[in-house]
Amino acid sequence: MTASEAHHKIKQLSKELDEHNYKYYALDNPTISDYQFDKMLEELIALEKQFPEFLSEDSPSQRVGGQITKEFKSVKHQYPMLSLSNSYNEEDLIDFDRKVREGLGITSSGGLFDFAIEYVCELKFDGLSISLIYEKGKLVQAITRGDGVQGDDVTTNAKTIKSIPLHLKENFPDKFEIRGEVFMPRPVFDAINKEREEIGDALMANPRNAASGTMKIQDSAQVAKRKLDCFLYYVLGEDLPYASHFENMHAAQSWGFKISKDAKLCSGINEVLDFIHYWDKERFNLPFDIDGIVIKVNDYRQQKNLGFTAKSPRWAIAYKFKAEQVSTELQSITYQVGRTGAITPVANLKPIPLGGTTVKRASLHNADIIEKLDVRVGDYVYVEKGGEIIPKIVGVDLTRRQPHTPPTQYITLCPECGTLLERNDGEANHFCPNESSCPPQVIGKMEHFVSRKAMNIDSLGGETIVQLFNAGLVKNIADIYDLKKDQLLPLERMAEKSANNLIEGIEASKQVPFERVLYAIGIRHVGETTAKKIAKKVKSLEVLMHASREELLEIDEVGEIIAISIHDFFSDEKNKQIIARLKQAGLQFALSEEQQQGGSDKLNGLTFVISGVFTKHSREQYKDMIELHGGKNSGSISKKTSYVLAGDNMGPEKLKKAQSLGVKLITEDEFLEMLN
Ligand code: IVH
Repeated sequence: MTASEAHHKIKQLSKELDEHNYKYYALDNPTISDYQFDKMLEELIALEKQFPEFLSEDSPSQRVGGQITKEFKSVKHQYPMLSLSNSYNEEDLIDFDRKVREGLGITSSGGLFDFAIEYVCELKFDGLSISLIYEKGKLVQAITRGDGVQGDDVTTNAKTIKSIPLHLKENFPDKFEIRGEVFMPRPVFDAINKEREEIGDALMANPRNAASGTMKIQDSAQVAKRKLDCFLYYVLGEDLPYASHFENMHAAQSWGFKISKDAKLCSGINEVLDFIHYWDKERFNLPFDIDGIVIKVNDYRQQKNLGFTAKSPRWAIAYKFKAEQVSTELQSITYQVGRTGAITPVANLKPIPLGGTTVKRASLHNADIIEKLDVRVGDYVYVEKGGEIIPKIVGVDLTRRQPHTPPTQYITLCPECGTLLERNDGEANHFCPNESSCPPQVIGKMEHFVSRKAMNIDSLGGETIVQLFNAGLVKNIADIYDLKKDQLLPLERMAEKSANNLIEGIEASKQVPFERVLYAIGIRHVGETTAKKIAKKVKSLEVLMHASREELLEIDEVGEIIAISIHDFFSDEKNKQIIARLKQAGLQFALSEEQQQGGSDKLNGLTFVISGVFTKHSREQYKDMIELHGGKNSGSISKKTSYVLAGDNMGPEKLKKAQSLGVKLITEDEFLEMLN
């Protein structure tokens, strides 16, 4: 084949494929088989490979992605992307209709000349909104909603969505913006989750999260595999062909866009209500999720007269469906004990599908809720799922209650340690006061103690803690420092090497600075930041233990509740003993010499990102040093990063990013030099 023949053939195949693509994805009405389509596409790809000079960037072969987005650039929307005000019942909608009429000066007399407003009713697709900009018939930019004023440029990823045309067919305006919803069809979502389940990957919560997560993937080839789809529902521009929404959307369909065939022109609010009633039931038969109906005034002149509030147009409203509800049997109630001793009652249900997943458990929150709902074991309960993952019980089907079902008696003793539960005035949850020996509380405290931001003993994971606890080797955080290697070796899955690592990790933690020790010991309400503030002020644990309430209240961030909590902690005999043992073990209970002198402001105004492995100090220590000398730590590289403190084996992505933004890399020696 000569080059000019190839060029001709490539153009012809592209044109045909575009047309079939449109019929398949936008009109949902294919006229050739998938097999025929694939054959044509293969032929095109082969030719483009042989004659790369004729490969155009909007060729149908380019839908498979492959380009990487290094960073999703933030861009300002030409017209802000507003949201819609919500309504939940018919009265809200009748009210909306009344306001529209009032706004337009059409008073409802109930008489013969009562004008009905023309509304367009559309499905409210549950995905993420996107704005597409076309110039001279070509897609030039795709932007996410973001905060409504500016969003992320996701053009590369949007190009893999087959229902988004890369170039338009005919009679389109020279420049316009069109908005719609990117979503993941149910069957695609189910297939991906099934595959994930098989390989033991975490499942995706729902199609909406899956769609928005997918649009943020940097590798567009991965995005293409996720088979997203997109309905368009709003077009903006200076020279649109019609003076109404419905007509323009149909024009947009002829330009190449996918428009929902379920949108309907309604005359007056009663027809709108009919539409809603229909879809309230019918929505479950759709191959994608919708969470409501959108109602828009059709006529542009009327839209213009009604205008906008700061947040949303006055000419449109969203009607939200009630959350999907099912009823199922409550088989038992169990009680979980959290790290702080708080008790959470959990309903164990006869498994039932709801909103795409199988529900087996639901939170019952606390004793008051159980009493208010009067739920009893054996009852059929109504379970509801909103946007969140954990479903909730919203009521009981009393018609199905068996006679003589006893009311639920809330437990009085801790299910883990048998201690009498307590409940503070004004608090919803019961709690187990046995802080020092109730297993989940003790284990929870130890997990907190060793965690990264606390003592950072990463060789001591959650499972090992449980093992050590069950073997009776540790009963509190001080016991950790008494562990000997030969006590560890008999434990299951504990090889020589892991035992050594564990002992070394424990030893190294003795150098963790005072403020982190203060956070690690787990005084209620003393978080990471508060611990830092307190440490800076009191300088040693000795001072803190003997501080008066007034002295405590002088510290930034310390209010009444924290002051009481600190006081209670140090008045407890068991805590006093633990602290004494930790001190004995050699933990840092005061600011270091350097810290005492208050560090310096050598790194003022500088932001660091730490990446890789270091030899002289640990990552956590470098973080502390940066803060001590007035610098800031950040987790990700951006234009604002001053330096990347780079150790060995720095991640390739980070390296690439630093280079592309021109951020300077420094070694640990260079960093230490900066401080001297
Ligand atoms: S119209 C100014 N139509 O719902 C009007 N929105 O809170 C702009 N949505 O952010 C929106 N389906 O993500 C419109 N048929 C539809 C829609 C729709 C879903 C989403 C969209 C928007 C949100 C409104």
